[in-house]
Amino acid sequence: MKNFFLINYGCQMNVLEAEKMKGLLIAEGYEEAPDEFNSDVVIMNTCAVRETAERKIFGKIGQIRKHGRPGLLIAVCGCVTQVSGESIFEKYPGIDIVLGSGNKMNIAAYLSKAGSSARILDLGNGPERDSAECAQLAKRGSEYSAFIEIMKGCDNFCAYCIVPYARGGEVSLPPVLVLDEIKMLIDRGYKEFTLLGQNVNSYGKKFADGSERRFRFHDLLGEIEKIKGIFRLRFITSHPRDLSSETIDVMASSGIIAHSLHLPAQSGSDRILKAMNRGYTISEYLEKVERLKKDIPGFAFTTDIIFGFPGETESDYRDTLNLMERVRFKNAFLFRYSERRKTAASGISEGLVDNEEKLSRLQNAIEIQKKISLEESIGYVGATKNVLFSSLDRKGRNISGRDTHDMIVIVENNMDKLGTVRDVLIERANSFTLYGRLKSA
Ligand code: SAH
Ligand code: SF4
Ligand code: F3S
Repeated sequence: MKNFFLINYGCQMNVLEAEKMKGLLIAEGYEEAPDEFNSDVVIMNTCAVRETAERKIFGKIGQIRKHGRPGLLIAVCGCVTQVSGESIFEKYPGIDIVLGSGNKMNIAAYLSKAGSSARILDLGNGPERDSAECAQLAKRGSEYSAFIEIMKGCDNFCAYCIVPYARGGEVSLPPVLVLDEIKMLIDRGYKEFTLLGQNVNSYGKKFADGSERRFRFHDLLGEIEKIKGIFRLRFITSHPRDLSSETIDVMASSGIIAHSLHLPAQSGSDRILKAMNRGYTISEYLEKVERLKKDIPGFAFTTDIIFGFPGETESDYRDTLNLMERVRFKNAFLFRYSERRKTAASGISEGLVDNEEKLSRLQNAIEIQKKISLEESIGYVGATKNVLFSSLDRKGRNISGRDTHDMIVIVENNMDKLGTVRDVLIERANSFTLYGRLKSA
């Protein structure tokens, strides 16, 4: 069993973990297969955040069993398995190996243990892998822009959300590990970094050694700022409650932190935010938005919003649309509420919004957001953007990167400029992408 294909679902955290799993497997002598149907091992790194995400995975398993190599091994790991436990084998008999969220990095050891008929289930943490080694070996999607994990898990228990059950409690990684990983990648030519955590703003609340609040998120940003060779720094995800004024200060005075922030609002209604256990009001949210807009001219926001949370009335819904119009998010990830087992909201039986209504609220909001996104994008036509070209576009023929406002910027051809930082004159735009030409150096 020497060739594998990894199918990834879910958030950036999963993307990074998939990069690490691939790197570890390659170090063990495995090769990456061209696709899932010509592979001895198929690994699915799953996401449970909404029912639609989960459903996709199980359709895929059937398809692979039908069209894949006879005798292939299917391993499923990540958030879905952690929440489902053993019952996953009964529901989906085609699976051979089930690992949870905490022992994905041990995948190679489980693959070598598995015989063709043996079923393996391990939802524990497994032997701790050396984080620095995983970071060293990761097979990253770009050679210039990298994700850096700064914390694991989440303690927030937003009423709708399965993540704390799928990933366990929040633990911050030691600062020295984060700083060393960035330095190691700079030595390899990386220039752009995105710090990852479910709630980066509460970094330092608790470290693995049990120590607390000795080194906070703004301290970490301050230390990263001192490292030479970073073109741009981003971080996701920020919790509006925990975004501190110290962090905003560091952002305003920084020469490398992007002038954009993903700040999930989830709703525009205080009543719904309270029911969601989000811990902030809309006026507190807007205060932080306004401060960033004032301190950093041109500052751009993106967000996540859920439509049809139990109890959401027409009036709550209008409050959310008002928030969208007021902040004018550059981009918004809009979702229909999906009930998740174990979560606090899954027990609510009153005020449920029926599916048709959820869908109609969502679709109307998508239309409104499309218009805002397009207007905001078009506003950049004629502007000059400073961009690290970190990858090729989907066609594989043009260079692509993200600007300080987290807009995708594409320049045709110029493949030899991959990995360089250039000024781009923006010539046209669609909702999420800007197109332009290189200005002469
Ligand atoms: N820790 C991050 C990401 C959480 S998951 C954060 O707090 O923002 C990404 C997004 O999925 C959330 O922001 C939320 O908008 C959405 N989401 C989570 N649970 C959901 C559910 N049950 N139904 C619909 N959307 C959900
Ligand atoms: Fe889920 Fe809330 Fe944690 Fe984000 S902060 S992962 S929405 S519980
Ligand atoms: Fe999904 Fe797990 Fe990320 S549920 S959103 S892959 S933390």
